[in-house]
Amino acid sequence: MSILDNIKQPVKKELDLFEDKFYQAMKSPVSLLDKIVHYIIKYKGKQIRPLFVFLTAKMFGEITESTYRAAALIELLHTATLVHDDVVDDSYMRRGVFSINALWKNKIAVLVGDYFLSRGLLLSVNNSEFRLLGIVSDAVKAMSEGELLQIEKNRKPDITEDDYLTIIRQKTAALFSSSCAAGAASVTGDATIIRSMKEFGEAAGIAFQIKDDLLDIEAGSLPTPDRPAGGGQKGTIGKPTGTDLKSKTLTLPVIYTLTQLSGSGKKNFLRIINNGVMTKAGTTEIRNTIIKTGGIEYARKRMNEKVSEALSKINPVTDNPAKESLVKLVDFIVSRPY
Ligand code: IPE
Ligand code: MG
Repeated sequence: MSILDNIKQPVKKELDLFEDKFYQAMKSPVSLLDKIVHYIIKYKGKQIRPLFVFLTAKMFGEITESTYRAAALIELLHTATLVHDDVVDDSYMRRGVFSINALWKNKIAVLVGDYFLSRGLLLSVNNSEFRLLGIVSDAVKAMSEGELLQIEKNRKPDITEDDYLTIIRQKTAALFSSSCAAGAASVTGDATIIRSMKEFGEAAGIAFQIKDDLLDIEAGSLPTPDRPAGGGQKGTIGKPTGTDLKSKTLTLPVIYTLTQLSGSGKKNFLRIINNGVMTKAGTTEIRNTIIKTGGIEYARKRMNEKVSEALSKINPVTDNPAKESLVKLVDFIVSRPY
């Protein structure tokens, strides 16, 4: 059994039922759309957000119809943003297979993303889930703002760690915090619990994105501090790597490295990043400099601090199997290979 299967155990039955509810929430009589829906279901992702919804709910009570709706809404919105993201980034791989824009072109991918967003809105409104809609709409707004803020900061060597944290809190952690808040809200009205689960999800989401940014730099066949040359397999993370550097997106390891460099070293580093197309040799040099200056280690340290912060939020809850799985899920987030 994989680590993730083991983590899913306490909500296994619910996750199986969720599969069908998620399909019902997406399916369409328009055959082109239904074909794309089937493709997305066939190559579904890790479904980490629904897992957070179910485990958080189960930690405090019995799963309800509201819990299923929260999980479906959040995975629909997540899917919509991924489909749009691949258009925005011109990316042709996702989950180890061709992205929607690669197979059906941008026009269709944009419309499909909009369709998922509207199905999510309808799912909430048709079931009078207004509190849920409120929790999740905040996240959707934050995600767009985070992506745009990131574009605004692209190529800017004066980007600070605080800027970076604001960006990832919005673009990624907001949906994780909504997942946990909505999961809790589906089984309890206790505002203190809902707030602390929101904070739990946010810390976990920040750790998730720092890990994603580390994977973008480390995955592939280049040597890293804990994986010697030749030890890694290309493409195992299911999407292209090195894309942040190519798009001049400065993530935590790079931001830290910039604070450690000066003079000609810094000039050279920035020249490579900002020089039109990133060559293979350029990418290698950037990676090596990041490793040498301790950028990877630094980002890992920050990531692990967020893990501790997340764990401190669920620590006071009475022990139960769902809580145990959440602890393991947070650990999986930062140790996952994809
Ligand atoms: C990818 O999220 C988008 C980010 C926030 C980095 P996931 O890694 O959870 O994507 P899937 O759903 O498993 O493919
Ligand atoms: Mg990335």
